[in-house]
Amino acid sequence: MKLIKARDYDDISRKAANILSAQVILKPDSVLGLATGSTPIGIYNKLVDWYKKGDLDFSQVRTVNLDEYCGLSKDNDQSYYYFMNHHLFYHVNIDLKNTNFPNGMEADANKECTRYNQIIEDMGGIDMQLLGIGTNGHIGFNEPNDTFIPSTHQITLSQETINANSRFFSSMEEVPTQAYTMGVGHIMNAKKILMAVSGENKAQILKEVLTGPVTPFIPATILQFHHDVTIVADEAALSALE
Ligand code: PGA
Repeated sequence: MKLIKARDYDDISRKAANILSAQVILKPDSVLGLATGSTPIGIYNKLVDWYKKGDLDFSQVRTVNLDEYCGLSKDNDQSYYYFMNHHLFYHVNIDLKNTNFPNGMEADANKECTRYNQIIEDMGGIDMQLLGIGTNGHIGFNEPNDTFIPSTHQITLSQETINANSRFFSSMEEVPTQAYTMGVGHIMNAKKILMAVSGENKAQILKEVLTGPVTPFIPATILQFHHDVTIVADEAALSALE
């Protein structure tokens, strides 16, 4: 795994956005796997800025998002659909028909997972997958588990994830307890993986991902087996390693 050291959050955002930009410039019809959460917001802000300056063209880009909460409609401001539109898609020239999410309102999990797997396969896989990481080592909503689950599945969120995500909701009761997530197999099949890691609260998990044994109890450790992973991390996130 290639590790790029950044000073701080802004430096991570700029470096990771540069890598994504290069991907889109080199392959204008790239399939980008995209992530939500606090970490990618700065990256998306840079992409919007550079698009507005005329440096980027998203007209042929297709996207597939990692995950979506179950039970939140598209117009709920905590849905990942809403997040992506407001942080990136509405501000660039992407064709919204080329953006894809699991449908959190589909109650039939088998049907929804089959549909989403088919979308990813029909696209021919992912050229570059952007990832954050949870403090428990989750990627997307692939939570700690006794096996790695390869394809799209419905997951009951761990208490640690619910606690972490409660900061975005007005009460704990409003935090969804289930989600649909792309599986680890789809992530591992991406041609390139770009992970952004910021802050001291990620330092321990980053150390385990980089130096610990590969285990489904820390899902991100599987990235050690991928041939093209770039991790951009700031000094705080790297503090347990040095
Ligand atoms: P964060 O979430 O960027 O909000 O820390 C990352 C994740 O849970 O994947």
